[in-house]
Amino acid sequence: MQKTILIVGANSFIAKSMVLHLEAAGYACMAAPRSELDMEDETSIIRFVEKSGNLMLDGIIFCQGINPDKNVKDTSMDHIEKMWKVNIGGPIILLKHLHFKLNNAAPIIFFSSVAVTKGSYDPAYAAAKSAIYGLIQSLANEFAHLRFNAIALGLVENSPVYNKMTEDFREKHRKNMKEGKFIQTEDIGVAVVELLNNISINRSIVPLTGTTP
Ligand SMILES: NC(=O)c1ccc[n+]([C@@H]2O[C@H](COP(=O)([O-])OP(=O)(O)OC[C@H]3O[C@@H](n4cnc5c(N)ncnc54)[C@H](OP(=O)(O)O)[C@@H]3O)[C@@H](O)[C@H]2O)c1
Repeated sequence: MQKTILIVGANSFIAKSMVLHLEAAGYACMAAPRSELDMEDETSIIRFVEKSGNLMLDGIIFCQGINPDKNVKDTSMDHIEKMWKVNIGGPIILLKHLHFKLNNAAPIIFFSSVAVTKGSYDPAYAAAKSAIYGLIQSLANEFAHLRFNAIALGLVENSPVYNKMTEDFREKHRKNMKEGKFIQTEDIGVAVVELLNNISINRSIVPLTGTTP
């Protein structure tokens, strides 16, 4: 029977290309954009779960995110809280209300970042992406029948964060990347399908960072 994967933040650049990859691999995708499932708002999460009725799910991919754009001098408590809610709080609250709708061994996938090891000019972004490691270990303890993994991404070519960068800044990134190549959406699709299919991968952060040593 075809497996159904919930895609959170379904309007994201990466989500849109990944859905095509997953469908080609035989998965059905239940796309949930922010307008239907707002990860900062528990009421929206509860409404979404209620609306999904008796549907059972075979996995979740969290594609929502806030791009890094505030250094310490420009940041605010609002920005830091939003970063935290979107990356960490929202997924916890979604699982609180949705866990009983997940079939046995369902894989849950997060997107972390190369910022975990390299840092980011937005410390709230790097901190929230780093917290995904502790998050997946804790969720894996509580929901031992499910699988939790993350992919740590380097800069993805043509994504909104890439498009917003100046050419100089992009060049700085390119110099640190293997063969001067940015991450391609096809590579993400392949990695995601592997994480969905391979039941021996659990509690891992897969580095799709493209960085040189
Ligand atoms: N692109 C990269 O180079 C890169 C590198 C490292 C990690 N990542 C991570 O990979 C994931 C996908 O990245 P991307 O480039 O595809 O991102 P993107 O195109 O910038 O999209 C981010 C998505 O998150 C959604 N979102 C924001 N707040 C939300 C909320 N409260 N509830 C639900 N959805 C919300 C946005 O919804 P709206 O459409 O309504 O605004 C948007 O569709 C993110 O977690 C990102 O941090 C990306």
